[in-house]
Amino acid sequence: MKVIVTDDYEIMSREAAKVVAAEVKSKPDSVFALPTGGTPLGLYAELIRMHKEEGLDLSKVSTFNLDEYIGLPLNHESSYHYYMYDKFFNHVNVSEDRVRIPNGLIENPEEESLAYEWAIKRAGGIDLAVLGIGRNGHIGFNEPKTEFGSLTRPIYLAKRTIEANARFFGEDPDSVPRQAISMGIRTIMNSTKIILLASGAEKARAINQTVHGPVTEMVPSSVLQLHPDCTLILDEAAADELEPSANGFVPGPGTRTMIY
Ligand code: PGA
Repeated sequence: MKVIVTDDYEIMSREAAKVVAAEVKSKPDSVFALPTGGTPLGLYAELIRMHKEEGLDLSKVSTFNLDEYIGLPLNHESSYHYYMYDKFFNHVNVSEDRVRIPNGLIENPEEESLAYEWAIKRAGGIDLAVLGIGRNGHIGFNEPKTEFGSLTRPIYLAKRTIEANARFFGEDPDSVPRQAISMGIRTIMNSTKIILLASGAEKARAINQTVHGPVTEMVPSSVLQLHPDCTLILDEAAADELEPSANGFVPGPGTRTMIY
């Protein structure tokens, strides 16, 4: 697995944006899996800048969000629908008919999950999955003990995730929905390429387990060790518990790359 350690959050976000932009340039109709949360805000801001100032054209890409809460109205400020339009889609030229976010309001979330898997297949599969990571190593909303063979499905959020996400719900854990629809581990692992972003000391332990730990369903992100083209893009704080790598090199200012 490749690990790019950057001096800070800004450089981490720019490095991630470079990977996304390179993907779009090499394949304008690329299919992306996209994350929400605090971590990718800088990436979305940089992509918006590249679109406005450098003409990055996103008109042909397709996007599938990793997850969505069950039961939140689409215009609820904490829904991932709201987040994606507010932070990204409203400011770039992604075509609305190529945007897909799980519908957490549908009566039958199992059927929605199946339809979501089919939609990904029909789009030709995911070319680049962009991931965040939870403190417990979750990717998407795939919490510890999720089977590596899992596909998109309704899930229950872990207590730690509810507590961590309370900051998006006025610091009130009771307002955080208990359920969500999430792409599965296998859905994510089927992507041709994966990048995972992490920033801050609170992610350092999960990153250590992702890179050095045993591959175990107790740490969902550890499965990424088995992916043939996965890059972690970290800031210094998130990389703090990594062992030095014998294969390190310095590709550019503010970044160093390590191969594990
Ligand atoms: P965060 O969430 O970016 O808000 O820390 C990441 C995640 O839980 O996957």
